[in-house]
Amino acid sequence: MKMEKISVGNINDFVEDSMTAFEIANRSVLVILQAGQFYALEDKCTHDNGILHDGELLDGAVKCERHGAKFNLTTGAGTMPAVKKLRIYQTEVVDGEVFVIYQEL
Ligand code: FES
Repeated sequence: MKMEKISVGNINDFVEDSMTAFEIANRSVLVILQAGQFYALEDKCTHDNGILHDGELLDGAVKCERHGAKFNLTTGAGTMPAVKKLRIYQTEVVDGEVFVIYQEL
């Protein structure tokens, strides 16, 4: 399985409670900084492909604006009407640079 570490910028490029969308390996990935921790999730709701960066960042979750599903930032688990987990990517900060660990499925 191919694994890549992809830089998404410097730690100072991100502000607290921000959601930033990136294209990584032809996939839309949402990078979130909350409480000093970086999260990376698929930027597409598993219910009906809502764009999550248009939604709302909650405490530990992102809410899809289309029908209100909420996805846990750590596990990707969703609430109704989403039944499928959201894909989650690992993140890493090395010398102030933020990486998303991308793994081909
Ligand atoms: S598309 Fe996200 S909750 Fe329906």
